[in-house]
Amino acid sequence: MIKIDLIVGARPNFMKIAPIIHAIERANIPNQLIEYRLIHTGQHYDANMSETFFQQLEIPKPAFNLNVGSGTQAEQTAGIMIGYEKLLLTDNSDLCLVVGDVTSTMACAIAARKLLVPVAHVEGGIRSGDETMPEEINRMVTDSITNYFFTTSEVANQNLRKNGVKEESIFFVGNTMIDTLLKNRPRFLKPEIWDELNLKEKEYIVLTLHRPANVDEEAKLKELIDEIIAHSHNLPLIFPVHPRTAKIISGLGISHPRLHMVEPMGYLEFNYLVERSKAVITDSGGITEEATVMGVPCMTLRENTERPETITMGTNELLGIDPKAIKPAMEKLFSEKWKKGSIPEKWDGNTGDRIVKILCESVHAYQ
Ligand code: UD1
Repeated sequence: MIKIDLIVGARPNFMKIAPIIHAIERANIPNQLIEYRLIHTGQHYDANMSETFFQQLEIPKPAFNLNVGSGTQAEQTAGIMIGYEKLLLTDNSDLCLVVGDVTSTMACAIAARKLLVPVAHVEGGIRSGDETMPEEINRMVTDSITNYFFTTSEVANQNLRKNGVKEESIFFVGNTMIDTLLKNRPRFLKPEIWDELNLKEKEYIVLTLHRPANVDEEAKLKELIDEIIAHSHNLPLIFPVHPRTAKIISGLGISHPRLHMVEPMGYLEFNYLVERSKAVITDSGGITEEATVMGVPCMTLRENTERPETITMGTNELLGIDPKAIKPAMEKLFSEKWKKGSIPEKWDGNTGDRIVKILCESVHAYQ
């Protein structure tokens, strides 16, 4: 049996870890092959950024919470490293499995490797090339010390090869975020706002914004939202507001009868809305993948992406961060010329099982 630490910290981690936990539980029948402890760093702590996802995605209560809370990048990194190191020093682990690209991912990978605990990185190898984003630094640092790379695409494999990673460390398994999406699609929940606003399929747009490049500068954020309102053909805009954005937007006095700013939503409610929407406008990475699989037109307000297959194969288009890009994109959407897209290889709902099979094979190698 091997002991594995599963690390989560921020909202996009929860949908990536859930299928791995469920696959471990399936693989442990009849013999327990893997003992895991789920460790929450506490990077996201509001109920609607964290706890709701545990309930909806049937993730067990974490064995430990490092309660790092808010702070600068360095404060969060340091706090998580100190907390996780203490844990490992008290009770060591055979493997530290991290997912995605958030601060918690990088901090735990560093703490583990310094105590000679090997690291597995789920979603390893993806790169935006944009080193102004904290996530890109997290990806580069994490991958530079990862032992086992579980990848979502051939592009990620190539990025790793270019960095000199050996073929035997790369496992192209697909996308655990899509496992969660496909498993939960039949249970998506109609949010209250649906009836309150009398929403109709394909007759509203979903908006999410939280990247510093879009939200930290007040005038820019206001201009972006104004352009979206101006060119959205009278459709309602549903905007679940991330806490980071909420802090900035509250002082801007933005209000419009068609702009509906709501609290961050649960996973099942949010994806109910996305699945039925005319389009999504976002600066998130994960949402571009979900929109691709659900065939929903997606406009990304970023200059680059670490998920190029959502563009080459999926429904996503990069608009950049200039508000002037909104108008032509909306014209394309409303003239029904948006591309249809297809689904990337191995984004099929079975990635968690593939990862756990590989982990179990390594168990046998241990014995
Ligand atoms: C983090 C991730 C980002 C991910 C996003 C999804 C990093 C570097 N970034 O960004 O990749 O897309 O999560 O949500 O790890 N806050 C709350 N309540 C919470 C959590 C945060 O109010 O539960 C506030 C914090 O006080 C802070 C702001 O939101 O002011 C940003 O939180 P932080 O965790 O630093 O990064 P995110 O912008 O959420």
